[in-house]
Amino acid sequence: MKLTSANINVIVKACRKAAKVLIRDFGEIEKLQVSLKGPGDFVTLSDKRVEKILIEELQIARPNYSILSEEIGEIKNDKEFKWIIDPIDGTSNFLHGIPHFGISVGLEHMDEIICGIIYDPIKDEMFVAEKGNGSYLNNQRIRVSSRSKLKDCLIVTGGPRRNLKEREIALKEYDKFSSSVDVPVRKMGSASLDMAYVAAGRFDGMWQRNLNYWDIAAGIIIIKEAGGFVTDFNGNDTYIEKKTILATNSRINKEMIEVLK
Ligand code: IPD
Ligand code: CA
Ligand code: CA
Repeated sequence: MKLTSANINVIVKACRKAAKVLIRDFGEIEKLQVSLKGPGDFVTLSDKRVEKILIEELQIARPNYSILSEEIGEIKNDKEFKWIIDPIDGTSNFLHGIPHFGISVGLEHMDEIICGIIYDPIKDEMFVAEKGNGSYLNNQRIRVSSRSKLKDCLIVTGGPRRNLKEREIALKEYDKFSSSVDVPVRKMGSASLDMAYVAAGRFDGMWQRNLNYWDIAAGIIIIKEAGGFVTDFNGNDTYIEKKTILATNSRINKEMIEVLK
């Protein structure tokens, strides 16, 4: 089955167009990696190029929608609808030639994400969801996993950055989770793909501090529509304001909150 709606079609088209440039640029990275200057500036340009294509495409189809995008910030317009964009999520992977990064686009309506796409252009994996219509990976319905004991789960996180205020706390949390699970905690370097993988049942849960709205916007709806939970570290809905995110299957949410206490 395929998830199609006017808004989904708009995002799919924009992502596919942007992905062509992203794949081409990724091919250049290897060469730049060995150059004296390194790929840093090129990656910054690539990020901006991808963002420009996404915004152009979305604006052609929906000229009045507002936009929040990582590189350019906010374009204020319509008060009801807003695109939330992360042109490359997993920039450090991209920079180092590691094929694990994604384009993330969510659509907010009246402060709620109603549809979203996370697209991994290298693996050609497109995670799509729309409120009330389920979550899909390349047109196949996806569901969160059904593991119910944290000990048996595969969980993922990111950070903390060197300068994070709560770095010590974040490391303690890592330590607690690390001693709660049999299989070591994963760190993949792309928060949006971490969330997509929870939705697809590949991971059972993810937690992370200090994520921005554009890192998680599309992931929120993709997890919820796959039957999972998205909360802050206390089990509440204030994860966007608090920037702390706990995304899980429907069974281990409480146990992960206990660990975070
Ligand atoms: C980053 C990635 C990373 C996460 C960071 C994010 P970026 O986004 O999602 O996995 O740990 O907190 O900032 O910079 O690659 O778009
Ligand atoms: Ca990001
Ligand atoms: Ca980014």
